This record gives sequence, structure tokens and C-alpha cells, in this order.
Amino acid sequence: MKVDKLYQYKIPEIILNSWKQNQGDTLLPLQTQAVTKYGLLENQNLIISSPTSSGKTFCGEIAAVAKLSQRQKVIYLVPLKAVAEEKFSDFKTKYSDLGIKILISTQDHFENDLDLSNGNFDFAIVIYEKFNQLLIKNVDILKQVALIIIDELQMLFDPHRGPVLELALTKVVASPNKPQILGLSAVLQESNGISPSNNVTKLSSWLDCRLLVEKTRPIELLQGVLYQGLFRFKKFNSGEESSEDFLDLNGGHPLEILFANIEKLVAEAEQVLVFLKSKAEVEAGSLILSNRVSWLRAGNAISEIKELEPTTLRDKLINSLEQGVAFHNADLTYPERKMVEKFYLAGEIKVIFCTTTLSLGVNLPAKTVFVETLKYQNGESGQRSVLIPLSWSEYENISGRAGRFGREQNFGRAISIATNQFEANCLWENYVEGKSEPLTPQLKTLGWEELLLDLTSCFLTTSLPNLKNIIAKTLSYQNCKINEDSLRETVQNLTQKKLLLSDETGNLKISALGKIFALQGIAVETGVYIQRKLKQNPEQNSIYGESAKAETISWVYDLLHSKEGQQIYAPLSFEEEKN
Ligand SMILES: Nc1ncnc2c1ncn2[C@@H]1O[C@H](COP(=O)(O)OP(=O)(O)OP(=O)(O)O)[C@@H](O)[C@H]1O
Ligand SMILES: [Mg+2]
Repeated sequence: MKVDKLYQYKIPEIILNSWKQNQGDTLLPLQTQAVTKYGLLENQNLIISSPTSSGKTFCGEIAAVAKLSQRQKVIYLVPLKAVAEEKFSDFKTKYSDLGIKILISTQDHFENDLDLSNGNFDFAIVIYEKFNQLLIKNVDILKQVALIIIDELQMLFDPHRGPVLELALTKVVASPNKPQILGLSAVLQESNGISPSNNVTKLSSWLDCRLLVEKTRPIELLQGVLYQGLFRFKKFNSGEESSEDFLDLNGGHPLEILFANIEKLVAEAEQVLVFLKSKAEVEAGSLILSNRVSWLRAGNAISEIKELEPTTLRDKLINSLEQGVAFHNADLTYPERKMVEKFYLAGEIKVIFCTTTLSLGVNLPAKTVFVETLKYQNGESGQRSVLIPLSWSEYENISGRAGRFGREQNFGRAISIATNQFEANCLWENYVEGKSEPLTPQLKTLGWEELLLDLTSCFLTTSLPNLKNIIAKTLSYQNCKINEDSLRETVQNLTQKKLLLSDETGNLKISALGKIFALQGIAVETGVYIQRKLKQNPEQNSIYGESAKAETISWVYDLLHSKEGQQIYAPLSFEEEKN
């Protein structure tokens, strides 16, 4: 379908012309289907499940622009700061001249919180957690919003991000004001491309969405394993298997194999992304590679980064940039990360070592990505982080950073390095031939007290039966028998702690303190502890005197053992750990 045809859906000509000029005059097959067969521009709720780089996010953009052109508000939900920033700068360049007020809301942009909660925007790009906070502050905003786009909808099933996204979407589902919903994901289907799993059907019925499944990538992707100098791969679209020669270092260390092959690819004028499992490793990888090679200096990047405020990592970054190599992780500041992305796009930086900060939705030119298939996860019960394998969905999204449509003509490669035959087979079976893991909603991992506080926080006043109904509207608890006794007991506990207020007719209302807990996502136990400490003798809490010091230490100790504290991983140096 030609872009021009969107005129009949009331998308202004000026926008169509700019799309044609900057991107091309034809919609991708997925986009054509969404518009012509699935009612994308006719207010139809829709989940689009299609491979990486197939044009899902641009479907979101088309739908957003259609609403914005009718002067309606749109919220675009994303999981990562990098994606939020990419979309923000892209939208600002394209649309702010048309008078569209574009706003970004992430942890790096607190300055926009007020405008967001006051509805002072046309198009808001919001991180999931911020969206839930927004609904807690002002659920009536849904009256003003015509479209909510949930990019990377599979995050609903992520153990860490899933509960909050489910809470937010429950508020949308339970609200009488329902905007159009558009959910996007590359991994809400079986990896062998047969039928979408049962839970995807459940998800679409929960969100009242039609399901559009597409299986082809516009650019072929070779996903495979490099072992003993041979990259054995399977083509994403055709399923055809083949192999390609790479450098073999006679079973050398995997890092040696990685560096040697990166050098080979860069010598062939490629740009490479390397996904490693930890922030420390991407910094080290970047420095080691830059010490080995003598590539062109990323001179412009260095000059611009030198203008930035000095930080602990700035010098490390500059060292790597001396050879056109960089790293990208959450320890860099936002301007530093932006610079790395900018000069990689400009071609000055040849290789980026990154963590998952660039794993989802990002469009950077890379013919080849190297994927380390491990990640660190917080240990249970206060243990240190543990190393676990990437899930198939994570692998799929990371490998999909290669071969991006519009940035690569022929194909992309996603390479995982194996050091022995057993590992090569495991990687092949679990990732290349892998399947979607069971999609289990995660809200049940949240305590009842936290769940009730969150749900009461935006439904102003409510009763016990009402609460039960709302809980039954979550994805996790729908069709579950909700134990009324435990619900009543939880309400009583929260009332005793003065987090919920109950009037004589039994109506429940969140207290000011309860609302703060819900807004900040503070576990009830932790919040009550802090409250108790703050109520103690103020002199005892002063920063002076020995007893105060002891008191502070005990606070810190207790907080570190709280639910939130256990999730903090403080890396210790070897010496510190020994002591
Ligand atoms: N109709 C089009 N014509 C030309 N380029 C397009 C078109 N649609 C999308 N693109 C470009 O193709 C690339 C991939 O598109 P997009 O980011 O929408 O894919 P995606 O399916 O969301 O990928 P991912 O699953 O990785 O998030 C982007 O660079 C985008 O600008
Ligand atoms: Mg996308």
C-alpha cells in the first residue's frame, strides 16, 4: 500500500509527504494489513505480534498521528529509556513544528511529571512504571486519551516489570473511559512460527483486542552459533540452514575469538553490536578491544563528550573512542549514552559493547550482533546476583537488533559463540530452534497489601465487593477464586496501619500515606518501618552523637534487609569482599 493512501484516513498531506521524503513511499506488508484488514485507523483495539524490524513501532506511529491529527491525546508506553529517548527525539524532529506537544516521562525527566499528570501534552512517551504512577495520581486522564500504545507488550510476563505493567493496564481495562489499545511485540508467538500460544489469545481477550500475527522480517536474519571457526545459522524467514567461515583460533578463549572476529567484520566495513552480561564486562570489553586495534579515532564524538560534565566513566569512554570503540550501559549518564548512539549512527563508532540498554526496539545499524546468552539476575532472599541463561524472548529481541530495515540492505547476523560441541548444541536448540517460554502473568508475585493499595489508590472510594471485582479484572486473577477472608483480613491490616480508611458504611478510601506507598511502589512492610523510625524521638535521629550513629547503622542494616533492599546489588572489590 502506498503511503499516499493514508490520506483517506485523514492523515494530513504534510505528514504523508514528510514520511515519503524521510522513509519511503510504501507501507510494509504488516502496516498495510494493520490498516486495511485490522482497523488500525478505525479505532480497533489490536495486538500486533510480528518479528523484530517488521515495522510494528511504525504502526504505532501511524495510529498515533491519526489521533493527533484529530487533536486527540496519545500515550506511548515503552520499557527502556533508550527507546523512549529515540522515539522522543524522532517525534520532536518530525512533529513538533506542527504544534504537537511531545513529552517524555522517564526517571531522567522528572521535570515533566507535572505536565504529564495535568494532561498538558498531546503525545507522551512514558516508561511503564511512570504510567502506573500517572494513573494513581489522575486516573481521569484516561478520559482525555484516545490511544494507548504498549510497545514490547511481552514485558507483561517479565518477573520484574510485569506486575507494574499489569497494574497499569488493569486500570485501563477497569476504567469506564477506554482509549483505543495497540499492543506490539516480536515474541508473543511460538518461535517455530506455528500458532500463537493460548496465553496470547487470553491476553488479547483481556485487552479486548484483535490479534494480528505476521511471521516475516523485511530483512533476512541469520541466527546461529559460531564454533570452531564455523558460523552455523538458520535463516529467520526461509528456515534454510547454512554456514559461513569465520576466524578460528584453535579453540582459543571465547573473548579472543570474539575480538578477532569483530576485527575481521570491521575490516569488511561493518558496524558491530556486542551484547554482554554485565556493565563491568562491557566497559572492559570496550577497553581491551580499543587497546588491540588501530582504527580511526572517533574525533567528533571525543570533542562532544569532552564538553559534557566529567563523570567517573567519561575518561574510560574517551579512551575507547580513541580507536572508534564505545560501550553503552546504565552507568553512563543520559547525555553520554546519547553521544554513543549518535556517533555510532554517524559511523564514527564502529563497535558498541552494550548490556540490555540497547536490547529492545532500538534502531541502530548493525549487520552483525554478538549475543552472550547469559544475564545476571538478583538472587532470591538477599543473595548475590546469579547468572542465568537469557530467555528465548530476550535472545530474540537482542538478535533482532541486527539487520534493521532501512539501515541494512541484505541481511543481518546474530552470532553466539560456543566453546565446545555441547554448548554449541545447547545454544542451537534453546535459541535458534527455541520456542517462546510459557507466558505467565506476574501480578501474583506482588503481596496482597501492595496490590490492594495500588488498586484502591485510583478508584478513590470503594467497597470490599468492589475491590474483589477489580482484582478479578487483572490478567493474573481473572477466572481465579478470590479468597474473601484473606481479602477482608488484608483490608483490616491496611486499615490498622492507617493506609486505608474505612467509613461507617464500610466504604474504603486510601489514606495520604497509603497513596505515597502506592505511588512510589514502597512495600508496606518497609514503609511502615520507616514511618515508625521517623516517629521516634527526633533527637535520637539527629546526625550528632554516638547513639545516633548506631541508630543510623541499624536503619541502613534493616533497610538493606527489606524487600527493596534485597534487590540492590552492591558490587564489592576483591579486598572488601575478603574482609
Ligand atoms: N513503511 C516503511 N518504510 C520504510 N522504512 C520503514 C517503514 N516502516 C518502518 N520502517 C523502518 O524500519 C525500521 C524497523 O521498523 P520498526 O522499528 O517499526 O520495527 P519493529 O517491528 O518495531 O522492530 P522491533 O521489534 O525491533 O521493535 C525502522 O528503522 C523504521 O524507521
Ligand atoms: Mg519496535
